[in-house]
Amino acid sequence: MKKSTLILSLCLFGATFTYTDLSAQNNSQSFESNPVTKKFILLPVKTGATKTWITVNVEGVWQHEFEIELAPENPDFYATLEVGQWKGKNLVLTAESVVPGSKWLSLIQTSDQMSDENLVYREDLRPQFHFAPRRGWTNDPNGLVYYKGTYHLFFQHNPYGTSWGNMTWGHAVSTDLFHWNEMPDAVIPDKNGVVFSGSAVVDWNNTSGLQTKPVKDNTGKITNPPLVAFYTSTLANRGKGKSSQSMVYSLDEGKSWIKYPGNPIIPHIIAENRDPKVFWYEDKQNPNNSKWTMALYMDGEDYALFTSENLIQWNKICDIKNLGCSECPDMFELPVDGNKQKSRWVFWGGNGKYLIGNFDGKEFKIESGPFTSKYGGNDYAAQSYSDIPANDGRRIQFSWMQGGEYPNMPFNQQFTVPRNMTLCTTPDGIRLFMEPAKEIEKLRISNPITFSSTLEGSDKPIQVPGIKGELFDIEIQFDLKSTNVSDTNNVLHTEIFGQKIAYNLGTQTIDLSGIKAPLAPVNNQIKLRLLIDRTSIELFANDGIIAIAKCFVNKDKVPCNFTISGNKDLADVQLVA
Ligand code: FRU
Repeated sequence: MKKSTLILSLCLFGATFTYTDLSAQNNSQSFESNPVTKKFILLPVKTGATKTWITVNVEGVWQHEFEIELAPENPDFYATLEVGQWKGKNLVLTAESVVPGSKWLSLIQTSDQMSDENLVYREDLRPQFHFAPRRGWTNDPNGLVYYKGTYHLFFQHNPYGTSWGNMTWGHAVSTDLFHWNEMPDAVIPDKNGVVFSGSAVVDWNNTSGLQTKPVKDNTGKITNPPLVAFYTSTLANRGKGKSSQSMVYSLDEGKSWIKYPGNPIIPHIIAENRDPKVFWYEDKQNPNNSKWTMALYMDGEDYALFTSENLIQWNKICDIKNLGCSECPDMFELPVDGNKQKSRWVFWGGNGKYLIGNFDGKEFKIESGPFTSKYGGNDYAAQSYSDIPANDGRRIQFSWMQGGEYPNMPFNQQFTVPRNMTLCTTPDGIRLFMEPAKEIEKLRISNPITFSSTLEGSDKPIQVPGIKGELFDIEIQFDLKSTNVSDTNNVLHTEIFGQKIAYNLGTQTIDLSGIKAPLAPVNNQIKLRLLIDRTSIELFANDGIIAIAKCFVNKDKVPCNFTISGNKDLADVQLVA
């Protein structure tokens, strides 16, 4: 590389950092670490600054590139670029078209800690019990897999900015689904493109052969199986179109991930093809027919299923077309009403529409649907966990709370709480129910407030005593006295932080700040569960037949003022908060 002007060179513990101004070459500037000694390079970011492409070269070989709003001065936050895998080698970051006068080179830092260690999680609008990345952007949850007591949560991540871009798999781990420890990014872009959504499994029997040193216990069970993850590689971000399906694996219980050298494992098939969700299909009648299955989004509103014996070679087995949804499939079997002898398969699409059916390892036969169980614009691209042990047996899902706003924050977007899904029989047939995972109960810090009352009138809100603070898990039960659907006062209201929840018995609809969903009383009751965090409300109604996720910013600092109102002839109310 030709260097025109050397600005500064300094030596720390034997490592030399060289800052180079290549202004003659399209105002490029480079940062050289020779050799790399620390785990991370921390890059200064200013939201709204001119975007610049940075290329990472190690020993002169291109590794990846990303676009970043490089702070010319006064960074809003630092982005973390992991370079530890190149310790001892020569690394050069080259930024294209840097704004004249930018001081980014003198702001850059190297560290063994991820960025902003002393600032992170203290931000005004930081969700308190919903996952949001330390820094940068997230959209879909990816690669949800449980292994040896750890829930892994990968996520579509832009590590270098608060808007969508540079798609990478961020990584966080938890033992209770609510306290997350964010790790360095797990899967970064490469020559096949950026890293779109996908899934992960434990390859218990090492069918892939990716574990080259399998260790067996005295029952013959492999104790160090590989974890294998699937994602879409796409060059679409640089306008080069096509996408393909790639694989990474981990031989250290999910801590680090190795790119499969034969990537992509499924080349481009059709227009959009993306978001592989892989699961093990167990054929109970004929165990020899058990296989890996992949649900893949194809194009328009169409998906397809593929099978494989080794997670590497895949064959298409069927199409699932015209579902009324696109992107991010999920597919899983659940007992109906808890009865394992009576199960159904659920096929789930990006917008949360789902079908109920049967799957024999070859074809998904639709029995009913599509149905919707989640409403509102702040819930998209959900995915459920793989490999939760049979003695737990839950099917837990995270969803992206798409579209929320986090003004002036160094992070953007959050996930819903983890939700446990079940299939239950209703008067209308089998439906999917979802409720917050029970681990949320461990977050409660005080004895619950209980309250019961007769309502005093639609225009006489009752202030529920003792509800103070900013984070709540509230259960409300309205015992209906009237089913007079012509009564114009047949509406129940609650309000907190200015967010209004109304139930209209006449139209049998629940309304959370303008998001409406159908809801019929069950046994003359309406049961609401409200989870209130700094920037979101989640509502689960009648044991989870519907869920609404709503993001909000309490810009006017409306105080916590929890009120309930409604016609006294209509209902009595009981509340636990
Ligand atoms: C859904 C989605 C996926 C894609 C990813 C890219 O939100 O569009 O289809 O893989 O986001 O970030």
